Amino acid sequence: MSIVTQRPSQGAAPAGVAAGAELTATPVAPAATEPAGDVPLPDPAPGTATLTDTHPTPHTAADARLGLEFPPDFGWGAATSAYQIEGAAKDDGRGESIWDTFSRTPGRTHGGDTGDVAADHYHRYPADLDLMRDLGLRSYRFSIAWPRVQPDGTGAPNQRGLDFYRRLVDGLLERGITPMATLYHWDLPQALQDTGGWENRDTAHRFADYARTVFDTLGAQVPTWLTVNEPKTVVQNGYIIGHHAPGRRDTDAAYMVAHHLQLAHGLAVRQLRDTGSRSRIGPALNLHPCYPADDSVATAEATRLYDGYENRLYLDPIFTGSYPADVLADLGPDSRLARGIRDGDLAAISSPVDLLAVQYYTPIYVTATGGTERRWPTSVAAWQQIFPDGMYDILTRVTRDYGPVPITVTENGLPTPDALAADGTVDDAGRVSFLRDHLAAAHRAIAAGVPLESYHVWSLMDNFEWEQGYAQRWGLIYVDYATQRRVPKRSAHWYRQVIADNAI
Ligand code: FCB
Repeated sequence: MSIVTQRPSQGAAPAGVAAGAELTATPVAPAATEPAGDVPLPDPAPGTATLTDTHPTPHTAADARLGLEFPPDFGWGAATSAYQIEGAAKDDGRGESIWDTFSRTPGRTHGGDTGDVAADHYHRYPADLDLMRDLGLRSYRFSIAWPRVQPDGTGAPNQRGLDFYRRLVDGLLERGITPMATLYHWDLPQALQDTGGWENRDTAHRFADYARTVFDTLGAQVPTWLTVNEPKTVVQNGYIIGHHAPGRRDTDAAYMVAHHLQLAHGLAVRQLRDTGSRSRIGPALNLHPCYPADDSVATAEATRLYDGYENRLYLDPIFTGSYPADVLADLGPDSRLARGIRDGDLAAISSPVDLLAVQYYTPIYVTATGGTERRWPTSVAAWQQIFPDGMYDILTRVTRDYGPVPITVTENGLPTPDALAADGTVDDAGRVSFLRDHLAAAHRAIAAGVPLESYHVWSLMDNFEWEQGYAQRWGLIYVDYATQRRVPKRSAHWYRQVIADNAI
């Protein structure tokens, strides 16, 4: 069976919901009584909105506070990735990536949009850093563009590319924000694609070399590294459906790619250890809780296999050192994955990690025939179903099944049809309720014993949403692409208060 679910199809179905976790309860701080006062803000940079000069519309139920306080030092954060925000596609010696090639190919992205300019963060990062500070962010998750560091994916590093990330990291630290860097958020150097990309085992070794270069430069200043962002999305969207770069449609190749991405992860973990760094490292996995759409035996079996393809295929090798037997059996002994695993690979892939980054957007409801159905309201992203309890279920499940590895949520968010109103505000009340309800689920997971240490909204600002181009807005901060003006949305004001209160 070939399963493709990263952007699940829609429908409607009843479903059983996974049983609640039975974890050791960890006390969570009592509800806040006094909301913190406003923090004084600095003078804005010219042309940059601040978090106080555009006031959101009057509060509605979306902003209602729940009185749930988070543990002290909880890492309130926001996330971005290089290709989605940086622009500056040709600056300072940057090489081409597969997303440059893909987005410039007619018909691949909405409206032919590319990341050539994006949110122009490469040039505007100082003002963006100030906005992060004004939000009160404690953690910022960004990615490093491999083609800025090694334009052709191999060989001597491009110092000007590395310097950008050094300036960014310095700017974060100066503002009291902890950097969390992803090594690979899908922008493979095109030159490596030309020699087979992730189908070629050698790409995993090239990735390890690149990772070493980055660790040698920034390793001491970045306390937390993430290796490969969402290998599953590369497998499913890049190699099965083909609507992400490199746009292939070859299921057998896709699972070979899955293995090489995981090998790349493991080799990078070893590189970090080899530097003697005390920084932490882990994978960034998008996990989808899978629920049976009815209570038949056939549906339970289909759901279990579906879960194998969605979750265990990526969790088991890292945390147990083996691929899930049901998925391997389903792919068959002649699959490229089965034939491509070499001695020592799983030992490398299961090199101990320090944390697990979880990205949660949607549940999946599985039918007896292995199809999917929709049960909850969707969003502008047709693949998404809004189901906050899925956050609780997936967090408690990974802790139950894989042990008490520290967890960070590195992505969770909602695209909304945001527009700049005449009074200069952006009222994204839907995003506020989404974040509030998912944070409430995260809070419950902490109370149930999940070692969740931080949470990052996807995304800090509107950006290039892959094949959707600029048509979907996921940010706390609105980007007017014509002028590159930033306008904090209602959700940004709300999140700032949440961070100040350490409570929702
Ligand atoms: C995740 C990606 C991220 C963004 C969000 C909406 O799958 O990691 O770059 O596209 O979805």
